[in-house]
Parts: sequence; structure tokens; C-alpha cells
Amino acid sequence: MRYLITGGAGFLGTALSNRLARQGHKVRVLDDCSAGDPARLQPEVEFIKGDINDKTLLWKLLQDVQCVFHLAARVSVPESILFPRDYNVVNVGGTVTLMEAMRDAKVRRVILVSSGSIYGIQENIPYKESFEVHPGSPYAVSKLAAEHYVRTIGAQSGIEAVCLRVFNAYGPGQRITMANPPIIPNFLKHALTNGSVVIHGDGKQTRDYVYVDDVVNAMVNASSVVGVDQEIINIGSGVETSVLELVRLVRQVTGQKPEEIFNPYKSGGSSRMCADITKAYEKLNYLPLIPLETGLRMTIERDPQFAR
Ligand SMILES: NC(=O)c1ccc[n+]([C@@H]2O[C@H](COP(=O)([O-])OP(=O)(O)OC[C@H]3O[C@@H](n4cnc5c(N)ncnc54)[C@H](O)[C@@H]3O)[C@@H](O)[C@H]2O)c1
Repeated sequence: MRYLITGGAGFLGTALSNRLARQGHKVRVLDDCSAGDPARLQPEVEFIKGDINDKTLLWKLLQDVQCVFHLAARVSVPESILFPRDYNVVNVGGTVTLMEAMRDAKVRRVILVSSGSIYGIQENIPYKESFEVHPGSPYAVSKLAAEHYVRTIGAQSGIEAVCLRVFNAYGPGQRITMANPPIIPNFLKHALTNGSVVIHGDGKQTRDYVYVDDVVNAMVNASSVVGVDQEIINIGSGVETSVLELVRLVRQVTGQKPEEIFNPYKSGGSSRMCADITKAYEKLNYLPLIPLETGLRMTIERDPQFAR
């Protein structure tokens, strides 16, 4: 198979690109390097620097491609509140541009990497795909709009469309950004450098943390199984973990005791989040294999930014 992976030089995209290349597939990556780094891609991966809204470039890159993984996006919830227009241009406009180019190039399937943040605040847990969604940020709105576009244009153009709602992915290669860094690499880094961890709210808020290799398994399966056209499928661990429990695990795997600083003035976001992964098992034969404690240990071992 020949694949195009948009955003393939980012955290999830690099892991996916390298996995597919190792399996002997032909992999082409389009990324504008705004957050990604092609240096981590294996040499067999064909890398093209470019913008997801460049339709002419996309059309050229799609000529002999059977399946597209669409990951190119701006990914920060707080940043999306400051710059909603940019999020609309890249996450929504970029998806529409890609679908137009795919329609013209007659590509068979697209896998959109969507987000569990689309659910917003819910009364019941775990979150099922059948729940009414309440996106609570421009980022979540942009991912929901992208889902609608890939399914609508896909249905009209004969492109099979699969949307994977990924929850909180973590693992080696996840960048610690200056503003609003992802919680797991941020806590690991501070613990390993004798720093302190800042806990927003009371720390009882929960998330569903899923290891990058498990997400890659789901993405790879979504590209090859039959009977998934138009489906929306949750990808998580199915396990709910509070921030306080995460801190306990970080202490355990690092052997350090970072000081805990509670910031009651900043909300911890939705109070509870957890994916129901029944559909992922039924449709993709997906079962998460890496428990959080193991995944934290593997992240420290495999990511050079945690080298001691
Ligand atoms: N990491 C998670 O926990 C998570 C959870 C749910 C969904 N997702 C989705 O997975 C995808 C990948 O996320 P990630 O965590 O790897 O983030 P990331 O920022 O590492 O990857 C996104 C990539 O898209 C590229 N990009 C951004 N704007 C672009 C543009 N205009 N043209 C071309 N490329 C562009 C960036 O350079 C980056 O390499 C995103 O679509 C994100 O919404 C991630």
C-alpha cells in the first residue's frame, strides 16, 4: 500500500509513519513543520514540507495513494481559544482542501484522527459514540466540523471515511511545549529534574490516557478492515485516571517525589473523561495493550528528552 500521512512529522504521525514504513509500506508525509520534526522519521519515509491547504500540492502527492491518514492540525485547546480563526483555517479548511483533492485523485479511504474532546461535558461515563456531543472549545468544534466534512464529502465522492476519536495520547516523542504543555511529559520532566508539578483544580478530574503504540495499532487497523465506512470510533485505554493518581504513578516510575503545587484558580477542564472502547474492539479488533504505569516507564526509557 502507498499511504499519505498529513501531519506525519508530529507526535502521533511520526509513530504511525515509522510503523508503516517498518511494515514495508510506501509512506509519504506532508507536514508544514510548524510543530513537527521530520528528523525523527525513518529514512524510507518520503517527506514533503508543505501546507495542508495547498490543493495543487496535495493533488500531486495523492496520485498513487490508496489511503490517507489525516493528522495535520493545530492541537492546543487553550491556543484555539486565543486564535479560533487559525484553527478554523487549518483544521476545518485543511480538511475540506484534502477531501477535494482526494475526490479528484480518486483515493479509496481516509482515516481522520479526531478527538475525544468533542464530547465536552457529559453526565454519563464512559463516553459512547452515540452520545450527543458538546464541544467546549474552538479546537473541539474544528475537529467535529472535520468529522462532518470527511463523512459528507466522502459519502458524495465514494471515499470511505473513518473517524477515530482519540482520547489523551502520550508516549515517546510528545513535545513539551512552552505554553500549556501536555500533562504526562510535563510531569515526567519536572519529576526527573527535581522540580514540582502544578495540579489545576483539586486534581480529582480524570482523563483516559492511551499509549501511542496502542493508538497506532488502531490507526493501522482502521486502514485495512472492511465495514468501517462512515464510522466514528473511540480510541482510548478505557481506564479513567485522576490527576492525583497520575502524580502517584509518576512518583513511582521516576523514584522521585516532586512537590505538588495546587492551583485552585485554574480549572482542570472537564471533570471526568473516559472512552467506551467496545466499538473499537468490535470494528477494529482494538484492545489497548499498554497499561499507564508500563507506558510511563516506556516513555522515560525511549524518549531522549528524559535521558538521565
Ligand atoms: N495527541 C493527542 O492526545 C491527540 C488526541 C486526540 C486527537 N489528536 C489529533 O491527532 C493529530 C496529531 O496530533 P499530535 O498530538 O501528533 O500533534 P502534533 O502537533 O505533534 O501533530 C500535528 C502535526 O500537524 C502539522 N501541521 C500543523 N499545521 C499544518 C498545516 N497547516 N499543514 C501541514 N501540516 C500541519 C504539525 O507540524 C504537526 O507535525 C491531530 O489531528 C490531533 O488533533 C491528538
